[in-house]
Amino acid sequence: MTTDPSSPTALDPARRAELVARAREVAQRAYAPASGFAVGAALLGDDGRIHVGCNVENVSYGLTICAERGAVCSAVAAGTTRFVAVAVWTRNVPPSSPCGACRQVLAEFTTPDCPVLLAGGADAIEVEETDMAALLPRPFTPRELDARRGDRT
Ligand code: THU
Repeated sequence: MTTDPSSPTALDPARRAELVARAREVAQRAYAPASGFAVGAALLGDDGRIHVGCNVENVSYGLTICAERGAVCSAVAAGTTRFVAVAVWTRNVPPSSPCGACRQVLAEFTTPDCPVLLAGGADAIEVEETDMAALLPRPFTPRELDARRGDRT
């Protein structure tokens, strides 16, 4: 994350609010007939673009795709593979946080200090800030494979 306030990736209060608003907005498009629980995710790419996703359920329940992973897939398809901030919105207060699978997928494309904004509540939005290191300590990352390269038999 940059500290230059004029940078498109600066996480100033306006950019934070925008990220949360985008997560909340896309949650309105959640396809959640099974749970009725809408989730929205917004990822700030290192190019300053915001990519969003909502949860998409399936009648074969195990095939459900979480909002966070939907946002990652959308971003990668648009050419962004590094994220400098994440926002997740659910209706819950205190806000919910990403499931384990999504934490692992987000870890692939973020650094441990990447801020994660957990937002909740339909009216008075409550935002709790954490980071990837707190959500997923000691993640398995692509670097593990680099370290073992050459060790293969
Ligand atoms: N869900 C997400 O979209 N993200 C998470 O991190 C946790 C759960 C969705 C999946 C399912 O559609 C609904 O929330 C209830 O589990």
